[in-house]
Amino acid sequence: MLLEVKDLKVSYGNIEALHGISFTIDEGEIVTLIGANGAGKTSTLLSLSRLGRPEAPAVTGGDILYKGSSILKTEPHTLIQKHMMALVPEGRHIFGNLTVEENLRIAAYSHRKDPRRKELVAETQALVFGLFPRLAERRKQRGELLSGGEQQMLAVGRALMTGSSFIMLDEPSMGLAPKLMYEMFRAMRRLNDEKHITILVVEQNAKVALEFAGRGYVLKTGEIVAQGASADLAANPDVKKAYLGG
Ligand SMILES: Nc1ncnc2c1ncn2[C@@H]1O[C@H](COP(=O)(O)OP(=O)(O)OP(=O)(O)O)[C@@H](O)[C@H]1O
Ligand SMILES: [Mg+2]
Repeated sequence: MLLEVKDLKVSYGNIEALHGISFTIDEGEIVTLIGANGAGKTSTLLSLSRLGRPEAPAVTGGDILYKGSSILKTEPHTLIQKHMMALVPEGRHIFGNLTVEENLRIAAYSHRKDPRRKELVAETQALVFGLFPRLAERRKQRGELLSGGEQQMLAVGRALMTGSSFIMLDEPSMGLAPKLMYEMFRAMRRLNDEKHITILVVEQNAKVALEFAGRGYVLKTGEIVAQGASADLAANPDVKKAYLGG
């Protein structure tokens, strides 16, 4: 088991956002967490990663085990460097005044002490450009001049540059036209197939998430109300009615 979330409770001040949720992820899986606005999806990812986010909620109960050990007290930078976790946050956190290439390079800072840094950065950048040819075409363009979808790809590219083996994505489909959305999910599938990167993807778009993930969990107002293989969830009448438009 790569990740085991056990009866996790988190709060913002007095408001409890997660009321004791449990889920697991095995190495090499693509798992999705689906749910409506305010269900607690972002809160879950922030609790797992805490990657320098002051807005992360406080954990008030339960535990998060990564490779068998609790990471509740682990510093965010250790999560990135030692445990190789990366978060692609909701919205697009890229540097608007830097070019595509510069955005990718600075994300590779965790390799800074590696003697093979140059090769690693070049290899990973080639991987990112292979996955997202649009970024390759725009490598000298400033981040702020990219379209929303291209910015989303760059955000995913930045997560890859950290050398992470476990990537969490918060609503990667947000704001993307269907064609780009499928491109994004196909890129994720390729990363999983070819690089064995484990993926946790949070989505409001349950339809596409269940097409690409192997398993899923349904989050509703801070609780997990359904779980299973994606095909079973997609066929579940309650899930269909609430999240798949019929
Ligand atoms: N910084 C915060 N302070 C107080 N309450 C918060 C904060 N962030 C989130 N919440 C509350 O926690 C609950 C879960 O929010 P969360 O952002 O995790 O939902 P979500 O599933 O990601 O929703 P969305 O699909 O809209 O992004 C909501 O009721 C929200 O109002
Ligand atoms: Mg959210």
